[in-house]
Amino acid sequence: MREISALNDGWSFRPGFDPAAVAQRLDGPQVSTVSLPHNAVDLPFSYFDETSYQRAFTYSRVIAWEPRFEGREVAVVFDGAMADAVVYLNGVEIDRHSDGYTPFEARLTGHLRPGDNILSVKIDGSENPAIPPFGGAIDYLTYAGIYRDVWLKVTAPVSIARLKIETANELADAKSVSIRVDLANPAGAVLAGTLTASLSDAVGKVIARTSAAVAGGSTRLDFSGLAGLKLWDIDSPILYSVTVALDGPAGQDALASTFGFRTARFTPEGFKLNGRKVKIRGLNRHQCFPYVGYAMGRAAQERDAELLKTVLKVNLTRTSHYPQSPYFLDACDRLGLLVFEELPGWQHVGDTAWQANAIDNVEAMVKRDWNHPSIVLWGVRINESADFHDFYAETNRLARALDPTRQTAGVRYITESEFLEDVFTQNDFILGNEELPGANRARTALRDQRETTGLKHHVPYMVTEFNGHMFPTKRGDPEQRQAEHVMRHLLVLNAAYGDPNISGAIGWCFFDYNTHRDFGSGDRICHHGVTDMFREPKFAAYAYASQTDPSDEIILKPVTYWARGERNIGGVLPLIVLTNCDEVELRYGDLSKRVGPDRETFPHLPHAPAVFDHRHFSQAELGHWGMRWLDGEIVGYVGGREVARLRLVADPLPTTLEIAPDRFELVAEGRDSTRVIVRVRDQAGNILPFFEESIDVEVDGPARLIGPNRIPLKGGTTGFWLETTGVPGAIRLAVTCPRFEPQSIDLAAR
Ligand code: GAL
Repeated sequence: MREISALNDGWSFRPGFDPAAVAQRLDGPQVSTVSLPHNAVDLPFSYFDETSYQRAFTYSRVIAWEPRFEGREVAVVFDGAMADAVVYLNGVEIDRHSDGYTPFEARLTGHLRPGDNILSVKIDGSENPAIPPFGGAIDYLTYAGIYRDVWLKVTAPVSIARLKIETANELADAKSVSIRVDLANPAGAVLAGTLTASLSDAVGKVIARTSAAVAGGSTRLDFSGLAGLKLWDIDSPILYSVTVALDGPAGQDALASTFGFRTARFTPEGFKLNGRKVKIRGLNRHQCFPYVGYAMGRAAQERDAELLKTVLKVNLTRTSHYPQSPYFLDACDRLGLLVFEELPGWQHVGDTAWQANAIDNVEAMVKRDWNHPSIVLWGVRINESADFHDFYAETNRLARALDPTRQTAGVRYITESEFLEDVFTQNDFILGNEELPGANRARTALRDQRETTGLKHHVPYMVTEFNGHMFPTKRGDPEQRQAEHVMRHLLVLNAAYGDPNISGAIGWCFFDYNTHRDFGSGDRICHHGVTDMFREPKFAAYAYASQTDPSDEIILKPVTYWARGERNIGGVLPLIVLTNCDEVELRYGDLSKRVGPDRETFPHLPHAPAVFDHRHFSQAELGHWGMRWLDGEIVGYVGGREVARLRLVADPLPTTLEIAPDRFELVAEGRDSTRVIVRVRDQAGNILPFFEESIDVEVDGPARLIGPNRIPLKGGTTGFWLETTGVPGAIRLAVTCPRFEPQSIDLAAR
């Protein structure tokens, strides 16, 4: 049987690379001991020089010979390293991999010797124009380092390389599953033996079993007439798993993979999941975190998927612009969050050698991820690139050949580009584009697809980005700007819901991200998120969240800081209340008014906001400049019944310093982590948007703080991540802020 163990601890690391020293242990004053995932150069939150990590680094580790290696295949599997990796064992180059987003496996067999073996990895973080996504400017950072997990894999000489699980008759009661088992046989042994596939339900109960003789490098195993099994869907993401066991003359092996029964089809009339129309409401996700770039492990990846699904309530995410962590995708499978995954790249297409790398990246992505039921689309065109007929004909052909069960797409921003994919995916930034005559005045939110495709007929079509750089907004920006930010997200969502030929729309983007000097606000941040870098919601986040059904959660979010003098001229009108309630009441002094959703402006949204304006209150009624400002109250009703109420205070004062970790219980081993959000709230529990003092964070016990320990509040909140150090025990987290009594909370590593 295979033995897989994490190889994340005990690495030596140093900046630079010396080819003459690859056979030796790293030493010298610059060497540190590190654990993976690792970021080669940690960065400040903002305003830094992004060239600091664009150079070579060395990681090195001893692999001591073990008797169990004898006669077996031994390999080191890298889940991801940025960007250009060369692997040496005892001074001999054994592997190289130039894509920063896909896994690779360095075979040690044949190079191992008794005693200690030196594994050295050169990581080159330079933006090497020979490999995607590099060669032009890109609007994100590609932080150097071995930033995902690394594994030691010991198998029989013949092992199972991968499983390709395809389902059929999903919508019938009698479903089928076909499994292709690819064997790995690096030493060229005789291929023989038996393969047995066991199909299990989510709790591990075996439902069916089938066997077949090994038929060369690839063997097919089929199940049919499987009755009583459930579909995978966004509301009930039921997973099954297949374990395939190999029993042969060269030994035994087993490999498992989860999968789901579902159909997913983009049609000219919209997207259909399991034959049912589902309007896609999505957000784009980068995979970065403050300070440590890409190097966050499992818990943080899973939490991002959870936030998208349960807080922002979207039904799809696009892994812009590269394959993301397997932990993130596994979480999407479990949560019922659809995924559009795409190959690495951004606007630039290089020469034919570069294109050949990109074609390899398509293959690596599809083969890594083809069993995820959450993935419904392969992106096979470099994001926002021009037409390259031969290149894209090949990426499409390859993706379809490798995985005939999924459609292809290619994200573009130029119009009338060559349609080689199955789904036309367009970034539509028409809203607010002042350069386009009339566009802004008319507030065209999305174009008719025929305008962008240049075709006379409708095709499967989805909007893959909108807003973003058209209206960057920081969490603590003025109320008026927040209201406009909210409006723009709502208008596009409304337009997508209103056009039956648009499968859906994916907003730019989930959270603010660090970027190159050529983009963003000069601070090396694109403030394009509906949440900030800590994933703390801006008002626009509720434009998405409020589209959920009230039976899921009641959302009632007034887009206001409730102050007389925050907006130009003063007052709080028009006041948008993002909600899924069917009526909202605003009370102010003796006045009150109940209004329903603004269907005039947003006829198509599942849940249009309630908008209070001069039709309901005059600015004079809400008190003019020079009069006393009063508390307000907002009440939400569903079916005439009060379901939510909140108070807006006229004299907000810092009352509570809230420390909110996502989880209190952490796992000691494996560098588990939790995000912690700190918020300053007023008497009524509302965040004080302009409270801009700093907090000091102190951690006691087996955990460490990621990032600095003095952190400024921005927009009334801030955040950080805590990571376990490998030892169980109590963790005390103390937060001090000059305006509050010192606070502390207790967490635990088990
Ligand atoms: C798009 C691009 C994204 C991001 C966005 C900002 O053109 O695909 O990566 O830069 O603009 O709005």
